[in-house]
Order: sequence, then C-alpha cells, then structure tokens
Amino acid sequence: MSGGDPIPLARPELGAREEQLVLDVMRSGRLSLGPVLELFERRFADWLGAEDAVAVSSGTAALHLGVRALGWGSGDEVVTSPFSFVASANCLLYEGATPVFCDVDPITLAIDPAAAAAAVGERTAGLLPVHILGYPAAMAELEEVASRRGLGILEDACEALGAIDSDGIGVGARGNLATFAFYANKQLTTGEGGLIVPSSPEVAERLRSERNQGRASDMGWLSHTRLGFNYRLTDLQAAIGVGQLERADELLAERDRVAGLYAERLGAIGGHLAGGGDRDGLVLPCENRGAERRSWFVYAVLLPADVDRDSLVTELARGGIQAKAYMPCIHLLPDYRERFGLREGQFPVAEDASARLVALPFFTGMAEVEVDRVADALSGALGGGRGR
Ligand SMILES: Cc1ncc(COP(=O)(O)O)c(C=O)c1O
Repeated sequence: MSGGDPIPLARPELGAREEQLVLDVMRSGRLSLGPVLELFERRFADWLGAEDAVAVSSGTAALHLGVRALGWGSGDEVVTSPFSFVASANCLLYEGATPVFCDVDPITLAIDPAAAAAAVGERTAGLLPVHILGYPAAMAELEEVASRRGLGILEDACEALGAIDSDGIGVGARGNLATFAFYANKQLTTGEGGLIVPSSPEVAERLRSERNQGRASDMGWLSHTRLGFNYRLTDLQAAIGVGQLERADELLAERDRVAGLYAERLGAIGGHLAGGGDRDGLVLPCENRGAERRSWFVYAVLLPADVDRDSLVTELARGGIQAKAYMPCIHLLPDYRERFGLREGQFPVAEDASARLVALPFFTGMAEVEVDRVADALSGALGGGRGR
C-alpha cells in the first residue's frame, strides 16, 4: 500500500547554476583538461583550507593514486576498517598490498585507534582510516600510532566532505593524503568524480601525471614519463562541481536540518543515541562530541537485534519508502574471505553494525512531511517486524 509519492534513498540537488556552468563548458569546446577543471581544484582547496587538490574520475581512482603515492605494494600491510565501502580496501589489492582489518569504535563506527595500534606488525607500512558515514575518525590518535612506527596515512574521506575533527580541523586538511568522492548520493556531486588532497607539491605533480596516462607536467604530446591511468575528471563534471561548491555550506546545512528532524522524530518512537548503552534498541547515529562535527552522508540507524532487516526494508518499500541495508563488512566478502582466510567473528563491533544498520531516505531538501512518513512507517514496521 502506498502512502504517497515514493521517497527515494538519495537525490542530488542540482540547479540552474550547475546547468549554466555545464552549458558554458559545452559551448567553450574545452571538455577535458581545461580551465574549469583547474578552477574546481583551486576552489575546492580554498574551501577545504588545503594547499592543493587534484580532481580525478572517482573516489576509487583517488584512493588508488593515494596508495601509489605512498608507495604501498607487495609485501606491505595496511591497517584499515572492515566497516567501509569495498573501495577503501580494494585500492590496496590493486597494488598488491595486504589490508589488515581491525575493529571499529562502537559509537562512531570508525576505526578504533587501540585496535589499529594492536594490528600494527613488522610488515605494516601504513594506516587507511575511513571517515565512515561522515563521522570524523580519531585522526590525532591514529597519527600518534603512525608516527611511532613511521607509517604513512591515507584518509578515506569519501563520505565526509565538510566534517570537522576533534582538533577542529576540516577532514582531509590535516596534511595527510586524503580522498573525496562525488557520486550522485554524496554531499557534493559531479555525477561521478573524486579528488585527492596531496601531501606536498611533489606528490601533487605525480598525482596529476598519473591521472593522465603518466604524462609530464608540461603535457608534451605523448611524453609519458611514468606508468599512468586515465583517471581524468572532465570539465563538464568539474563545472557541476564548481556550481555545487558555490553553495556547499548551504547544502551541508540543509543535510544538518534533515538529520535534526530525523533525530527528533525517531527519538519520539524510541530511538536512542549511540552511546546510550542500548545496543538492542533502535540506535540513532552518535551526536557530535567536543569539536567533532559529522557531515551527513546518509542517515543510518541500527535496528534492534531481533528485527528481520530484509523484511523491514520490504515493508518500507511497500509504502513507497526506499531504505537499504548498509553495508557488508569487507572482510566477509567472498574475495577477501578466500584470499586472506577471513571469517565471521573476527571483528564483532563491525559485524554487528553491518548486520543491523539500515539507511533511510536522506537528501538535501527532504521535506518535514517526508521525514514524518519515514518515521511513522519505521515505527509501524518495527512494531510488526519483531521476531519474524
Ligand atoms: C567510504 C568510501 N570510499 C570510497 C568510495 C568510492 O568512491 P567512488 O564510488 O566515487 O569510486 C565510496 C563511495 O561510495 C565510499 O563511500
């Protein structure tokens, strides 16, 4: 039974400004490696408070180039989170490095610094923390772990554009290599796209070369000085990014508004904030602590352990509400199980989150009545869905 128009899981917010900017690029004839790409990179770096920014074709491409820039490869182990989108570990496999997973913090769901420290061994070359679901990972503690052992750091900030860490620093602006992603469900979109914040001008030069088939920076025709890839972001995509960046603060504030509505409505139906000690109830995303600020990527809640998540998602869909189980633990994906002999029970906090988390519709401009509908439907589904 449908209770109104369908409510999608995510929806990009694009307007007349983005249309105009794309049209300008189309009419300019410079569709790739043109001035709008440079403009997007400059504006992004300024907005973030970083020295530079290198735009690429996806977040995955950004991660891959980051792994290469750190020189991680065969024989190297990199400590990372099992509770993430698969790309944050796949990028290590591309270069023959080995992901070593460790468990996550039960409140933030980002890598637990103590677990990361314990996972560091003889062969560890680096740390790859993920600012999962837009909540800043404990970078100060992780940097301490890294500095004790001289490890490199690659930050996966693909879900965390605009987040602020415990030191009050924008996620991605600490000076480590850091990646962002601009798929259509992200806080800022270019359709497909990604970006890497370089750790030095030399690294920036290498990243720009590798994204463009290994060409020299003078762009000499077919002057390929190193192995490279086609990881270019087009100027058409960059134009969308420029438009989105102009109102990034507004887009992020809008997402804060929607998340606030959810917290209120779901609190009213019995939702508890993470950290409240109720691991079997409906657990809402954790609140900001100290200087930390989450950037809202998705709004995901932990269902009570006895609720059948698939049935609940189906029930919501019957009411026109798109929700999604979010997301499988990387160490339990078939490829990882087989390659590395990984199994259930190794990372209980991540596995519990992975089994219980569900992403609810969440997008810029989501109306209050839509949040109400989701909250009502979730309440109904929880009432009828237990123990099935
Ligand atoms: C945590 C994380 N890392 C990496 C990526 C990869 O980004 P892309 O899809 O742009 O390749 C994503 C995208 O969803 C992500 O959520």
